[in-house]
Amino acid sequence: MNPLILAYETSCDETAVAVVRGSEIMSNVLASQVELHARFGGVVPEIAARAHVESIRSLTHRALTEAGVHPDQLDGVAATQGPGLVGALLVGFSFAKAIAWARELPFVGVDHMEGHLMAPRLQHADFEPPAVVVLASGGHSQIVHVPRWGDYQVLGQTIDDAAGEAFDKLARFMGLGYPGGPEIDRLAASGDPEAVKFPRALADRRYDFSFSGLKTSVVTFIEKARQSGTLPPIEDVAASLQEAIVDVLVAKTFNAVEDTGATTVAGGGGVLANRRLREKMAAEANRRGVRLLLPDPILCTDNAAMIGVAGAFHLERGDYSAWSESVDPAMKLGR
Ligand code: KG4
Ligand code: ZN
Repeated sequence: MNPLILAYETSCDETAVAVVRGSEIMSNVLASQVELHARFGGVVPEIAARAHVESIRSLTHRALTEAGVHPDQLDGVAATQGPGLVGALLVGFSFAKAIAWARELPFVGVDHMEGHLMAPRLQHADFEPPAVVVLASGGHSQIVHVPRWGDYQVLGQTIDDAAGEAFDKLARFMGLGYPGGPEIDRLAASGDPEAVKFPRALADRRYDFSFSGLKTSVVTFIEKARQSGTLPPIEDVAASLQEAIVDVLVAKTFNAVEDTGATTVAGGGGVLANRRLREKMAAEANRRGVRLLLPDPILCTDNAAMIGVAGAFHLERGDYSAWSESVDPAMKLGR
């Protein structure tokens, strides 16, 4: 059926609107608030919610115009229901629900992480389970086994900080900008990943990971090296800490591939935009002869097209949200 969906993502600091037909992107627009939050070194929830309110109407207009779609043609409306910042989520969710209600269209609330998980379908319509998917963003890091769409077996996750959070916190400590992941990625490109050997935690666990020890280790290393005047170039520190995060994510993902016998491995979430992670995922997938599907970096970070493709899936199953539903800031994926 490939329903035509208008989709919204406002869980954090990007106001994003898209039109998709099934898994095909018709338009995908976004207003980043990064500049508004940068001077605070992180996302300020109240500022995020207000900025969503300010840009959501014009972005809706742009998304429909770029797609060449009139609202009369839509089959449904989807929006991120959670997890995320409550005030930010409420803006997109309520706006989307109002459009659906006024147009008498079905409305679908989507789990943000299911959006990331389905994002590879936007470029690979033949992406089908069974698969192992690694999700790594600013708030969540999980290894998910997907036996079939809609059934998400979370095999492992971080026991403390998310991978993106580790990048962001370390970047902040090193005096780099926010968000830190892209900055570290950029610096690391000219650094030596072997310069400093940072710890790879929880080596004895197949799927779970932990990044708080790494954080302590990097902070201690930098402080000591500064005192003794032996601090290596910042690029080397960036490359080395990035390597530690990447190694853990790759190892745990492929443990899951090995144990489930999956022949497809995919990824989503902002951290999957990381160049070194993509490189090492590709090398490992190649070595093992499994198919790797990673969305382009722009579709790894938050966007509304991924909410659209997940929304289309639910709509086709008749899986609508009730008008009485609201956002769920602590929404959890799968079982
Ligand atoms: O999925 P996302 O856009 O938003 C959330 O759902 O959280 O992920 C944002 C996270 C941030 O922590 C950011 O630093 C990280 O993804 N990130 C990266 C890169 N681009 C974004 N981390 C490492 N390397 C990158 N190139
Ligand atoms: Zn996200």
